[in-house]
Amino acid sequence: MPEPKALPIAARSVGCPFTPATELYDMQKQEELPRVKIPSPLLGEFDAVTVTRYEDAKNVLGDPRLQMGFVFDPDAPRTMLNQPGNLLNYNGADHSRLRRMLTASFTVKRVRSLRPMIEGIVAAQLDALEEEGPGADLVQVFSTPIPTHVICELLGVPYADRADFQRRAKVGLDVNTTREVQIQNLADMDAYMSKLVAAHRQSPGDNLLGGVVRDFGAELTDDELVGIGNMLLIAGHETTASMLSVGTALLLQHPDQLALVRDDPSATDGAIEELLRYCAPATIMPRQAATDLCVRDQEIKEGERVVVSILAANRDLGATDQDLDTLDVRRPPQAHVTFGFGAHQCLGQQLARMELRVALPALFNRFPTLKLGVPQEEVDYRTTALVFGVHRLPVTW
Ligand code: HEM
Repeated sequence: MPEPKALPIAARSVGCPFTPATELYDMQKQEELPRVKIPSPLLGEFDAVTVTRYEDAKNVLGDPRLQMGFVFDPDAPRTMLNQPGNLLNYNGADHSRLRRMLTASFTVKRVRSLRPMIEGIVAAQLDALEEEGPGADLVQVFSTPIPTHVICELLGVPYADRADFQRRAKVGLDVNTTREVQIQNLADMDAYMSKLVAAHRQSPGDNLLGGVVRDFGAELTDDELVGIGNMLLIAGHETTASMLSVGTALLLQHPDQLALVRDDPSATDGAIEELLRYCAPATIMPRQAATDLCVRDQEIKEGERVVVSILAANRDLGATDQDLDTLDVRRPPQAHVTFGFGAHQCLGQQLARMELRVALPALFNRFPTLKLGVPQEEVDYRTTALVFGVHRLPVTW
């Protein structure tokens, strides 16, 4: 089997998977925005104007003329790109209408009220890790179960069904699959979520799906509810799981910084923000020009695609005098686009932050001698998917 291709605008340094490839830094220095070929199972390979500087990223993501450019065609096979209910497929008023129905579930206050539930789930996984040890795969026993369990509790999805929906989430985010595989995968996801939506229509539970059915059920089609459920289920566990794994892998390479996360609660929030900037699990944000326009001084024609490289924009070496290539959990907070920017900025970012703030210090406190179970260079990073991560993270203590 040929080695799967990494996305060119999420390419990483040969020596360090956390560092952007030199080609990305070269693009950042160029006056002209480069056009790069992006592989996509659903759109085929397409050309996209590529944005790698932080200010350009904010301008693109904040410009309502640069849109989620996918047109609904009810006769076309259902894919992630034309799925009703998925906020990432909508623009303008259609997007606001749906997003408004969900925002109350993700406010800082609401997420704060979830802390005891998150702490309980983290404590249970730490027990499971201890039982498995003194060696285990952190991905299997810690990083994946925690956000999966949290989103199941929040949404009202049975945790017992996780093996199937986790597998489907991985397929959905893999750019090295085919269109046919993606269509079948989404059909399976929809079939599963349709049953849950029907159950909540019948008897809305005391959870997010139940709340949306109760408050907005009359305004939403079943298809929209299915799309909302699928979007939250995937978005709610894959990226946070990745952050828990790669954040741990990175801190194990920097014991002095790990010690701060372990021992100094006042350092936690800043440290998590620096890890989010440095590890950024989501790699790209695509948009399409709804009209002719300019990015910087460069003309973009209606219909042209523009793609923001999160990896590069978070390391814009021209934007600050800080050494952004060095991990420094004590540095003053640096702006980043790990959660995007503008109308589509991540709805679940406060929840993700809360999970990371609870889980990482708890891990290092419970296992103060935690170390990698394999040499650093043998850690199997996932650099070819839309979400950067690690396949396995053997640890010991
Ligand atoms: C570390 C964890 C996470 C990261 C790095 C992340 C990253 C992102 C990014 C970059 C976007 C914007 C995409 C774009 O503009 O093209 C986004 C959107 C979104 N995220 Fe997250 N996310 C995380 C966790 C979560 C969680 C826990 C949830 C929900 C439970 C969630 C739900 C969503 C939703 C619904 C959107 C679409 C918002 C919209 O289009 O209005 N995310 N996320």
